[in-house]
Amino acid sequence: MDYVSVRVSTLRGDQKIKFNVYVQINDKMILYIRDGDSFEGTRLKRLKEKKLKKLYISQDDESKYRDYLLVNIERAYDKQSNVDIQTRAEIIQGSQQCNVEEVFENPENAEAYNIAKESAAKYVQFLLGHSQAIRSVLNIENTDQTISHHGVNVSTYAVSLGHKLGIIDDKQTQMLALGGLLHDYGHSITQFVPNKLIPDMTTDELTVYKSHPELGANKLQDKKHFDQQIIQIIMKHEEYIDGTGYPHGLMEKDLDPLTQIVGTANTLDRMLVFEHVPKDEVSKKLMMTKVGKHPLPHLQHLAELIKTI
Ligand SMILES: [Fe+2]
Ligand SMILES: [Fe+2]
Repeated sequence: MDYVSVRVSTLRGDQKIKFNVYVQINDKMILYIRDGDSFEGTRLKRLKEKKLKKLYISQDDESKYRDYLLVNIERAYDKQSNVDIQTRAEIIQGSQQCNVEEVFENPENAEAYNIAKESAAKYVQFLLGHSQAIRSVLNIENTDQTISHHGVNVSTYAVSLGHKLGIIDDKQTQMLALGGLLHDYGHSITQFVPNKLIPDMTTDELTVYKSHPELGANKLQDKKHFDQQIIQIIMKHEEYIDGTGYPHGLMEKDLDPLTQIVGTANTLDRMLVFEHVPKDEVSKKLMMTKVGKHPLPHLQHLAELIKTI
């Protein structure tokens, strides 16, 4: 039998699969998820906990897999859908994460970028069009600590913050969502160790870590299909408004509003996911350690938002 790989981030929701899914162990394909299973709630959590990057299906089942994807996405974005909001959020979160992974693995592919870009606009509509959407997406734990899931979280916080700050232009909100999704492209180029805290890094590790914004932006600079705003966000999302960020120690006046928003959103999600600050302590920690580094209204909004999750 011939096999093709599928992304774990696409296996989401209450729709039962009509194909077997395999995991590769050494040279062998082992049946891992059976025809008839679905991936909502606790099942999704368990699947993510396995920290698998790729799974496999039989090549003969490829069209069944594609049908599954189409039905899933359509049902999830359909406002009249009778699927509950948490399940819709899980499918949409997974599909956004998948878009990020596709762009990170194939940055030269204009189609992958354009799919991510168009889907980012749909994502904004979803997040702002349902009172529980933002909460439902942020409820999904990033148990496998991926940069792609982190990107979806940052995008979600950024859209919420942009909305609060009165950014309503469709193009701007689309760039904000997409910038959040793709901001850490640089981490996909170098080895990223999610659990290593900055104070615990060796000098060499810190140098590699701190190179990610510039490395990412430089690699994309000649890709005509990338919007300059997105490259700006990738380059400057680790800067702080007081000049103490990196790579260039820029000040508030050098940072455009969308980059500043993604920057604050990134700080919050880093604390929660990679620094393991508990949810009920993160608002306090954000206000105690980041005032002056991010605009105060940003910190205030995100500190309030996280209390509702
Ligand atoms: Fe970053
Ligand atoms: Fe980040």
